[in-house]
Amino acid sequence: MKLASLASCAANFVFVLTLLAVASGASSNEEKVTQFFEGSETHTNNWAVLVCTSRFWFNYRHMANALSMYRTVKRMGIPDSHIILMLADDMACNPRNAFPAAVYDHPRKTIDLYGDNVEVDYRGYEVTVENFIRLLTGRVAADTPRNKRLLTDDKSNVFIYMTGHGGEDFLKFQDSEEINSYDIADAFKQMWEKQRYREILFMIDTCQANTMYSKFDSPNILSIGSSKKGQNSLSHFHDYDLGVSVIDRFTYYNLEFFESVDSSSKQTMADLIAAYNTSLIQSDPGVRTDLFARDLAKTYLMDFFGAVQNVKLTTEAFPIGKSK
Ligand SMILES: *[C@@H]1O[C@H](CO)[C@@H](O)[C@H](O)[C@H]1NC(C)=O
Repeated sequence: MKLASLASCAANFVFVLTLLAVASGASSNEEKVTQFFEGSETHTNNWAVLVCTSRFWFNYRHMANALSMYRTVKRMGIPDSHIILMLADDMACNPRNAFPAAVYDHPRKTIDLYGDNVEVDYRGYEVTVENFIRLLTGRVAADTPRNKRLLTDDKSNVFIYMTGHGGEDFLKFQDSEEINSYDIADAFKQMWEKQRYREILFMIDTCQANTMYSKFDSPNILSIGSSKKGQNSLSHFHDYDLGVSVIDRFTYYNLEFFESVDSSSKQTMADLIAAYNTSLIQSDPGVRTDLFARDLAKTYLMDFFGAVQNVKLTTEAFPIGKSK
């Protein structure tokens, strides 16, 4: 407990020093500092919170959904120290998994979403509505380890992805409880008031997903859902070796899009959304932009998915990856 809080104090202290160095502009790092701040005075890091709320083997696809986004944000450059992965069940090690320690997005089995270096931060029965809300709002117990904390501030862009069984205005957590659209709206409001984000990209793949962002009323939130009110979100690729559907359509086509993109991409959120094909997804994805201040055609994917903090000065100041 002491160690954890000392570590975070030390990090804050280094951060303050970094800011002072930046402000004075006199350090030998001047050139890097200039790059760092070019066009992004108010945006210094990206975080991802990826949540699969389902348990049990027949929900394999929900874990594959969350791991698809995990693969994507890691490929683009967000380090594990800035990714909070919540998985209610571990399909990779399920005795019914004919391919132990692997999770696939497609029967051709070319992409192993589980791989060798998945870091799960909240697992099993830790994936609760309460823990999710506490994570977002920063109301965690004092002895909570660093990997279970969302250490964001008003310069952080946060990608929040959720998947599981849901319906109009709710998402089930492990068949035992539900989060509703007001709960999430309230958590985002608290986050805004506590200066815990600059912008949020909220994405959800569940039935009637678009109802889940309907209650948001805080600034700078871009929301995307997989299906409209009254509509199911459909699964994809029944795998006869596994006996289950491996992924959901909406997330699969997001993954497919991202697989063609790398961290040097200049593609925008508008490009991603334009690529949604309802005849393939078989539901109507929704996009809510009224709370979001920027033009989607000028909002780069990397503004959320990229390694904004991947600049010499800051990576030296934060030895990310070693903190866990
Ligand atoms: C959407 O997918 C269908 C089925 O593959 C295809 O025929 C159609 O051309 C696609 N539409 C667009 C706009 O790409």
